[in-house]
Amino acid sequence: MIIILLGPPGAGKGTQAQRLQKEQGLVQLSTGDMLREAVSAGTEVGLQAKKAMDAGELVRDEVVVKIIEERMDREDEATGFILDGFPRTVAQAEALDKMLADKGKELDKVIEVDVIESALIERITGRFNCAKCHANYHEKFRQPRREGVCDICGSTEFERRPDDNEETVRRRLDAYRKQTAPLLPYYEKAGKLVKVDGMQPIEDVSYEIDRALGFR
Ligand code: AP5
Repeated sequence: MIIILLGPPGAGKGTQAQRLQKEQGLVQLSTGDMLREAVSAGTEVGLQAKKAMDAGELVRDEVVVKIIEERMDREDEATGFILDGFPRTVAQAEALDKMLADKGKELDKVIEVDVIESALIERITGRFNCAKCHANYHEKFRQPRREGVCDICGSTEFERRPDDNEETVRRRLDAYRKQTAPLLPYYEKAGKLVKVDGMQPIEDVSYEIDRALGFR
């Protein structure tokens, strides 16, 4: 199964992708996580990506298409993929179509997580992650069960993303509107798009996504 989670920054794509990976055994492919790893490792890709990410702009299509292709090849045995944050432009979507056709694979569904803009800033500025396993939390909506301790790996260290400040988030939203939102009609036309109400509590969004994917 190959699915795309599509939605603006802070919509809940990463939250749902992490859950689907755990519950359904699908592999989460997050271009944001891959780029952050490259930035931390100081690779050539990381150096190129950092400037765009800090500015809230998209990294060049060729760069992200290449890292996704390499990761899919490496995970060839996987039962399926959740594409989280990719594609983000029509050029990336076309590259994905070609990549999948070359491998004899097919995209199953594109889940649009629909959230109003005013809620996104609060979600992003309250977000924090486990520094070790990257599990995703929120100051108000999703705190660890034991304060200061990661539910998943028990680590007591947490971190925030440098691009999670209000000014950069506004630029990321602008990039979403101009460059990524045109993917909605692209996938609607292909008969793949399912819209999910992302304004509900996390568990209810999970339920709706599972229904759309036939897991419930
Ligand atoms: P990326 O890391 O992909 O960031 P993003 O798309 O901006 O998305 P986020 O990770 O911010 O949000 P999310 O939807 O995953 O929300 P989350 O689940 O964390 O990309 C970062 C940068 O990398 C880009 O700006 C760009 O520069 C570059 N990049 C990446 N991919 C690229 C590509 N393909 N092409 C070019 N450049 C690329 O949830 C947010 C918070 O809300 C969490 O705290 C969570 O606990 C909480 N939450 C989740 N669901 C709910 C709910 N239903 N109710 C209440 N709170 C909720």
